[in-house]
Amino acid sequence: MYTLKEVAQHNSRQSCWVIINSQVYDVTSFIDEHPGGPAAILQYAGKNATAVFNATHPEGTLEELPKKSNLGPVKFVPGDRQPNAKTTPSTSAKEPNATPHLHTIQNLTDFEAVAKDTLAPNAWAYYSSAADSLHSLHRNLADWSKLTLRPRVLRNVSRVSLRRNIMGHASSIPVFIAPTARAKLGHRDGELCLARAAARHNIVYAASSYSSISHAAIAEEIRRERVVNPGARVGQGALAFQLYLPHDKEAGRGVIGTARSLGYAALVVTVDTPVLGKREADERFKAELEVEIYGGQLEGEGEGGVRRLAEPGGDEPVLRGYHSSALEWDDIPWIREAWGPGPLIMKGIQTAEDALRAADAGVDAIYLSNHGGRQLDYAPSSISTLLEINIFCPEVLGKVEVYLDGGVRRGTDVIKALCLGATGVGLGRPFLYALSGYGTEGVDKALQILSDEIETSMRLMGVVDLSELDNSFVNTAELERDLVSARSLQASLRTHHKL
Ligand code: GLV
Repeated sequence: MYTLKEVAQHNSRQSCWVIINSQVYDVTSFIDEHPGGPAAILQYAGKNATAVFNATHPEGTLEELPKKSNLGPVKFVPGDRQPNAKTTPSTSAKEPNATPHLHTIQNLTDFEAVAKDTLAPNAWAYYSSAADSLHSLHRNLADWSKLTLRPRVLRNVSRVSLRRNIMGHASSIPVFIAPTARAKLGHRDGELCLARAAARHNIVYAASSYSSISHAAIAEEIRRERVVNPGARVGQGALAFQLYLPHDKEAGRGVIGTARSLGYAALVVTVDTPVLGKREADERFKAELEVEIYGGQLEGEGEGGVRRLAEPGGDEPVLRGYHSSALEWDDIPWIREAWGPGPLIMKGIQTAEDALRAADAGVDAIYLSNHGGRQLDYAPSSISTLLEINIFCPEVLGKVEVYLDGGVRRGTDVIKALCLGATGVGLGRPFLYALSGYGTEGVDKALQILSDEIETSMRLMGVVDLSELDNSFVNTAELERDLVSARSLQASLRTHHKL
């Protein structure tokens, strides 16, 4: 047993102890591996980190530390004052300035405004940040308005169906919850809010590798909601598991096996993250925290806690290489084998060339995404990649299903994607913003809004079933002007794909 005084002496990078749930942990060797950056741990060195730890980590996280890091229970001596780390303004939620009543929220952008007003600065920085000059982020939003719709009139549209098969699940609407990390930053129930809303609306929720609630608890919650809420709206839903391949292939196999055994019905492998993008708002936040705590940059760190991480057996550590930087097309077969039968989806395709290659790589679906503009800046929006596929290699649409995400804020955006051959459309940030302001009810309302917008737009377009939508319902002329020149793409396809 250690007294608080003893724990308080281990308050440095050289020896870093923290108290979590009345146990003392030596986390010195873990500082550099912490996904949230070292400053987030060192801020609590020698102190009680229980509240912040439980608010941002899934159950079971402590069990992943080597056994010897748990030094045993803390001994409280009468009169001891707990050296709670003072919460900095940067990590506490702002006083909500009279959060608007949920009933008054009209569209998905309203949720973003509420989140911006109320989220703690660290959470807002993490959720809203995107790469470099934010060109990809802004283009994701702007490209949707370059497509316009071509409605038909005088059709009987009194009954419409929004059903779609998404990742093997008979979904009530052509929408799924895209993977996003760390939902507990927005609400104490974190990912559980997303699982409950997915169940209520009978849609797919693709849970992130970096969920802040354990994957087992998420799986249990979607099952529970199914039973508690039978027939309310349909009361089902299904889970997909978003996978970042870790540096170690065996560890990757292990995660895939766990996802399968927990009942995740589809595997979404992210392939656009050989390194993490440079998300300046988030890095600025971390740098400011370092200055607040240490008056500067930590020894051995880049600005904002940016690190170099080594591949096992690799040569040089890779800058920003948080996941495997060595993943290649040749890895797809072992991933397929580890996952076994069932939907396998490749997320992060951004060009016709890669779509063509992925269609032959043994996956069931491709998922067009530039990671919410968080990876490469000046990347194409997913809707422009879908248009590129339509023009240059439409055969892809017959071989694999196509999903996409990025900047989707309206039911009409979903319809535009479906017109160009997408099977389903994912949204990430809007649901995080909805849960940040209103928990499960917020996500539920966001899905109601989307569903209403899709249904209303279908009727106004003269369509009663999503299968009727095709490219004759959308005018792509404006977006086509932005596409890669036909000459250069055809040359590239000829060279790389021997067409
Ligand atoms: C995680 O996927 C992130 O983009 O932060």
